[in-house]
Amino acid sequence: MQKIISLVKRRGFIFQSSEIYGGVEALWDYGPLGSLLKNNIRKEWLKRFVQEREDTVLIDGTVLMHPKTWEASGHLESFTDPLIECKKCHARFREDQLTKKECPQCGGKDFTPSRQFNLMFKTFLGPVDDEVHLTYLRPESAQSIFTNFKLVQESMRFKIPFGIAQTGRCFRNEITTGNFTFRSREFDIAEIEYFVEPGEDEKQFNIWLENWEKFFLELGLKKENLRRYEHPKKSLSHYSKRTVDIEYKFPWGFAELAGIANRTDYDLKRHAQFSGQDLSYFDEEKKKKYHPYVIEPTLGLERIVLALLCDAYTEIKGGRTKTTEATKEIEVVLKLNKKIAPIKVAVLPLVRNKPALVKKAKEVFQLLKPYFMCQYDDVGSIGRRYRRMDEIGVPYALTCDFETLEKNDVTIRDRDTMSQKRIKIKDLIGCLKKLL
Ligand code: GAP
Repeated sequence: MQKIISLVKRRGFIFQSSEIYGGVEALWDYGPLGSLLKNNIRKEWLKRFVQEREDTVLIDGTVLMHPKTWEASGHLESFTDPLIECKKCHARFREDQLTKKECPQCGGKDFTPSRQFNLMFKTFLGPVDDEVHLTYLRPESAQSIFTNFKLVQESMRFKIPFGIAQTGRCFRNEITTGNFTFRSREFDIAEIEYFVEPGEDEKQFNIWLENWEKFFLELGLKKENLRRYEHPKKSLSHYSKRTVDIEYKFPWGFAELAGIANRTDYDLKRHAQFSGQDLSYFDEEKKKKYHPYVIEPTLGLERIVLALLCDAYTEIKGGRTKTTEATKEIEVVLKLNKKIAPIKVAVLPLVRNKPALVKKAKEVFQLLKPYFMCQYDDVGSIGRRYRRMDEIGVPYALTCDFETLEKNDVTIRDRDTMSQKRIKIKDLIGCLKKLL
């Protein structure tokens, strides 16, 4: 894990938030490469579950909502962790996870009995900081899907079953942090609420469980690093009839990557009750009125980014090339799926001190930039540059050499096989489109 953390910082994937001030625990900024990676995952999710489906649409709701939302959803009452407080320094800890490492720095040993601590961040709407204006930053994106259920169904003229997807920022004042970005206080969720007829929910649950797992395999996660965890009945969330986590084998062990929950009609009924609005659905064909059940596949983007980085991180002892320089060291290749790799193509002049080569390489770079996320690099030996590109997972590196000047072609090097072949510059766009 330490090696991965060091690589992603050194190469501009993820930085600690506000690092110049000493950083803030459990808050992370995504740098030039990390933000592209996260965005590519989000795009794949959209393509797979919104673009390619006829029954699911995307919405973009607000982070701040009417305070009643959180009463209705049950979060005010139930989205809590039991905490104990050190009587000496007043630091709070989760009783079940109080280990030596987490003991108060003051050395205190006397704690208050445990009390429920709500994980939602408080804020105020408008200029007055009082109870009337108090609201919360959303801890999940699902709630604005429920409050918009009727508006989406009617405006899209949807019949059950149908889905509403949403991706965006969520906030949780997590107490137990650690393991890098795994448990962040601010993170992106990508989730779908799929509305079904009661009685169809168990079947749909299983379909979504398979859809969700398939998606992670398509993004490139290794099958042997994924497993299911069925929540025992007694530990289900307040809204759930059944929850299955999809766990990933992180370097510290298996932990939750994503989940599927059967939220029943809990949320729609509660919002109907608290708002006084009718949120039921009328089935014209069956002449039946009901509150739909909801199957919820949910995913944290920070978690999938971390899982994909761990999965892709590959060390090759002694290096892959037989040069003396490489054999001494460990070579790192980030074998990210091409679909999500932040940079798709590197453009490299063989040497930087030949103006004609540099000019040609820059022309190739300009040619490709509108089509692919490209990076130009002319610093250091060509071997070192290939290794730099391997470390950030660039699938293809193009080199302009002396032959390029005569024949108008470049060599294309494959990150994983290191095979090289020559391609005419005029064919590059079509060829790369096919390869990527
Ligand atoms: N709407 C359902 C829901 O919010 P959840 O299991 O509490 O369910 C959904 O969260 C997903 O969000 C999790 O599967 C996980 O991937 C991610 N997640 C939850 N808490 C997180 C945190 N503190 N930091 C990063 N990701 C988190």
